[in-house]
Amino acid sequence: MDAIEVISAKRDGRELSPGQIDWVIDAYTRGVVADEQMSALAMAILLNGMNRREIAGWTRAMIRSGDRMEWSALPGPTTDKHSTGGVGDKITLPLAPLVAACGGYVPQLSGRGLGHTGGTLDKLESIPGWRASLSNDEMLGVLGAAGAVICAAGDGLAPADKKLYALRDVTGTVESIPLIASSIMSKKIAEGTGALVLDVKVGSGAFMKTVEEARELATTMVELGTDAGVGTVALLTAMDRPLGLAVGNALEVAESVEVLAGGGPADVVELTVLLAREMLATAGITGGRDPERALADGSAMDAWRRMITAQGGDPDAPLPLAAETTEVVAPSSGVLSRLDAYGVGLAAWRLGAGRERKEDPVSSGAGIVLHAKPGDPVREGAPLMTLYADDAGRFERALAALEGTYAVGEAADEDLLPLVIDR
Ligand code: URA
Repeated sequence: MDAIEVISAKRDGRELSPGQIDWVIDAYTRGVVADEQMSALAMAILLNGMNRREIAGWTRAMIRSGDRMEWSALPGPTTDKHSTGGVGDKITLPLAPLVAACGGYVPQLSGRGLGHTGGTLDKLESIPGWRASLSNDEMLGVLGAAGAVICAAGDGLAPADKKLYALRDVTGTVESIPLIASSIMSKKIAEGTGALVLDVKVGSGAFMKTVEEARELATTMVELGTDAGVGTVALLTAMDRPLGLAVGNALEVAESVEVLAGGGPADVVELTVLLAREMLATAGITGGRDPERALADGSAMDAWRRMITAQGGDPDAPLPLAAETTEVVAPSSGVLSRLDAYGVGLAAWRLGAGRERKEDPVSSGAGIVLHAKPGDPVREGAPLMTLYADDAGRFERALAALEGTYAVGEAADEDLLPLVIDR
């Protein structure tokens, strides 16, 4: 077999055989298939698609390229969630300890931000001392102590995906449902979780801009999980406006701690509780503490403090906040009718909350605090948002990103998506 045979089969719209898929993923992981050949194949897949059989085979081959973790030493079931990413999406932070407080074990492998969407590890790294890189034994230790761990995937987990995702990022081949579904699910299945809840975001701030595309991605991923023996459900949720009021690394940690303390913005609380119930139900955990109660009685906060401490962090340390600020004010009085997620994400990125290249550092203290969400009344001249940056020179480009992304009218726009679109 050789790479040209596989590339030309997909170029000509034919189904790849299981043998071709196994060979090309293994040969690419070993460096026998070159990056330029794999990028040609990725483009052929993006243009011509893959059927369900091919996607399942592709996912299995990526899992087999590395180790599969397992958690049978734990005294209870494991359950996890994955979000396809968005602006202000800090849900993993309160959710993992909340589920732990209700009897689940959450082995969450997370990523860093790239582009306008934030990354869970970047957010948590704004907590002084907190460590993202753990060995498998350390992961097990944190899970045992706190019931939840959030850390970076090691090099041994789906290495084929690590290589291929980096290649897709620079060859315009990210936006392919078969490649996205197999990339996400190979990592989640290799992570060894027994149950999985997918939060598939829809709207300008998400990968999937329409409900139809999101539904196709969700269905594909649920089938892949179920076939691999992982109980999997998916929710489609809104990302046409930011989630919560804080966008940026330390700002989102602070908002997550508010939720764990029983407060926080209504949309973040609603989605956190809903996802926690889905994670518990999918793992078959019934009759334990209800998530709403665990937020109110402090047990979720206790699990958070144990989790952060077990990973070297100080849950009581002050969080960094960027020194320079500027405000965007309401141009007239009325109701905030819309606030575009992509514009806010782009502005936060330009303030330093995100990175342009993988190797760039992020600013922990940069970002945006929103003072109103669509549907809220606003008064002319009152602040709509506060922008934070380490360097005031960043404001000009951030403010330019916000132009045209919000409007004041008589009511919220009618085409705003419901927070939970479908299950
Ligand atoms: N996240 C992933 O892990 N993979 C993709 O392909 C897209 C988003």
